[in-house]
Amino acid sequence: MYDSYFATAMRYGMDDYEAAIRPVKRQLFAELASYLTRPASAGSGSGTDGGSGSPPIRRVLEVGVGTGPNYAWYSEALSAAVAGTGAGTATAATAEVAGPTTTAAAAATAGLPRLQVVGLDPSPAMLRFAEESARAAGMRLAGDAGGGGDGGDGIGGGLDVEASLIEGSAEALPFADGEFDAAVVTLVLCSVPSPAVALAELRRVVRPAGRLLLIEHVAAPPARPLLRLAQSALTPLQRLMADGCCLNRDTGAAVRAAGWGGVLREFDLEGMSILAPHVAGLLVR
Ligand SMILES: C[S@@+](CC[C@H](N)C(=O)[O-])C[C@H]1O[C@@H](n2cnc3c(N)ncnc32)[C@H](O)[C@@H]1O
Repeated sequence: MYDSYFATAMRYGMDDYEAAIRPVKRQLFAELASYLTRPASAGSGSGTDGGSGSPPIRRVLEVGVGTGPNYAWYSEALSAAVAGTGAGTATAATAEVAGPTTTAAAAATAGLPRLQVVGLDPSPAMLRFAEESARAAGMRLAGDAGGGGDGGDGIGGGLDVEASLIEGSAEALPFADGEFDAAVVTLVLCSVPSPAVALAELRRVVRPAGRLLLIEHVAAPPARPLLRLAQSALTPLQRLMADGCCLNRDTGAAVRAAGWGGVLREFDLEGMSILAPHVAGLLVR
């Protein structure tokens, strides 16, 4: 019952938070999409070969996917990245020359990788909402026949993005070393039993030079002792109400200690009270 209560609260109670974090997500998902849709020749060569003549496959793991609020961001950012390749403008002409058997979608995505987004969460109730979110974002669910979940041509008028969802925990990821090109965690390291173990696991399953998109609320810095004290005082209650969520974790330090590089921005999210202090970045393995 608790599982279902918390999933429903996350599904319907996060609008203010999502509105506040929107500019940060827009920027970081755009950077991630641009990284993932680089032409294979310009990449590190790590993308899985999709088979004879097929485009390479890029894989993203979202840990603690929750109700799937980020699926809409993959969709928006990937559409923009596809448009940025110029593939969209070549679509009509390419389809015309190739004749009626070549679909516009296939022409639009020529040369682009296929994307697989794996969402993992220990909560079955969260995963049910996440499935709805993936379909609403135009993703194809693994196991579904045909194209986009809404019956359309996929994301951005053609990019093939497959979503799969599995039950599991961040501390013991059921994947091989270096299996993913990137990982995503948003508002998860506050809740997992051991952020250090989770960050090490993420580093294990992301390939060398792969990316980690991370957005987390954190403990206020020592220079703000009153807020820090309030966060510690309220953490026991928060843990009860919000599935183990701690207000007083130094997640930025844990990210660095785990060996992730790149820029990790520290900022306050306006209107979020004791949840205001945040860290966010697109980190490098
Ligand atoms: C506050 S919600 C955030 C969900 C989503 N990432 C978002 O941005 O809305 C925290 C999520 O972490 C999941 N979670 C809790 N413990 C976890 C663990 N040990 N491993 C992976 N996910 C976990 C919860 O089930 C929940 O979906």
